[in-house]
Amino acid sequence: MGERLFYAGDNLDGLELLTRRGLHADLVYIDPPFATGNDFRISQRRANAISASGQLAYSDRLRGSDYLDTLERQLCAIRAVMSPSASIYVHIGLAVEHRVRVLLDEVFGAENFRNSIARIKCNPKNFARYAYGNVRDSILFYSMSPKTLTWNPQREPLSEADIERLYPQTDVFGRRYTTTPLHAPGITRDGETGKPWRGIDPPEGRHWRYSPQRLDELDVQGLVAWSSTGNPRLKKFAEDNKGKLPQDVWEYKDPQNPLYPTQKNADMLRRIILTSSNPGDVVLDCFAGSGETLVQAHGLGRRFVGMDVSAAAQGVIRGRLRDVDVEWVEEDDEPGLRVFRATGKPQELA
Ligand SMILES: C[S@@+](CC[C@H](N)C(=O)[O-])C[C@H]1O[C@@H](n2cnc3c(N)ncnc32)[C@H](O)[C@@H]1O
Repeated sequence: MGERLFYAGDNLDGLELLTRRGLHADLVYIDPPFATGNDFRISQRRANAISASGQLAYSDRLRGSDYLDTLERQLCAIRAVMSPSASIYVHIGLAVEHRVRVLLDEVFGAENFRNSIARIKCNPKNFARYAYGNVRDSILFYSMSPKTLTWNPQREPLSEADIERLYPQTDVFGRRYTTTPLHAPGITRDGETGKPWRGIDPPEGRHWRYSPQRLDELDVQGLVAWSSTGNPRLKKFAEDNKGKLPQDVWEYKDPQNPLYPTQKNADMLRRIILTSSNPGDVVLDCFAGSGETLVQAHGLGRRFVGMDVSAAAQGVIRGRLRDVDVEWVEEDDEPGLRVFRATGKPQELA
């Protein structure tokens, strides 16, 4: 699929169009309404999350079974266009998260549940109410298969505090390091790793991790730290640490002055796109809002399909994509459907 598409209308129609054209998505991020019962408006000066005045951005009025039935139909239509290696991230509020998770188990299979990510969305709140401050929402992460999903985890560099805690020693060159045992559990009956090295036996029930030749090499390279009692240990340097694997609590606060209500954090979307898609893949957001997912996908050399029913969202998205040299041209071959195709050049692949 060479396109970067936008469907201006109800996503059930847009997804049906993708199916009809045999188009697939390799990654889906959606942030549907959360059944809050609110209207979200854009006032002249800023896109407030909830405001009494201004242009209606979107209405989040469906509740209860109406909300869940609609979302279930949308999730089934999304699944129908997902490629076998695709993942889906569903951003959702805590009031409906548990029900939406049951839906996702039904549509994608409980075996395809990967994570429920707690997303810290704002600073601590000091409202007086009979509950703890609510600073998080949730991202439910599922894949089409438990094993064949695209997965490029984005390691995070260690902080200064991490380095000081994990690597307490410093060598003569100023490099921070820690030490680990040079022996491992288990005994070797006749092997050379069970024999003394430099006259030292491995401790009871253990063997040397390396052959005597390799241990000599490590020592010559200055990689063995000798304690005052003559105990050898292996040096591990902070500079060789590849960074921390991401966990399931993320802190990505949303913009203070959004262009569209409930606009999500760009860095969070970049992490999702980099982790769960490859350059050239198709990223789908069929509740596109401000178009942040589409803009970030484009910037990372991915193709994208966006959909939104809101005229306000469509205006914001067009403007934002124009800023990154993507123009929309209305297609003529879909009477009654408003499909746009980006004509700008794709970004260099990330
Ligand atoms: C919570 S907002 C998405 C915000 C977006 N993630 C962002 O970062 O700006 C939900 C969006 O879904 C759109 N929407 C709701 N129902 C829809 C439907 N049936 N088809 C297409 N778009 C829909 C709304 O118009 C709204 O823009």
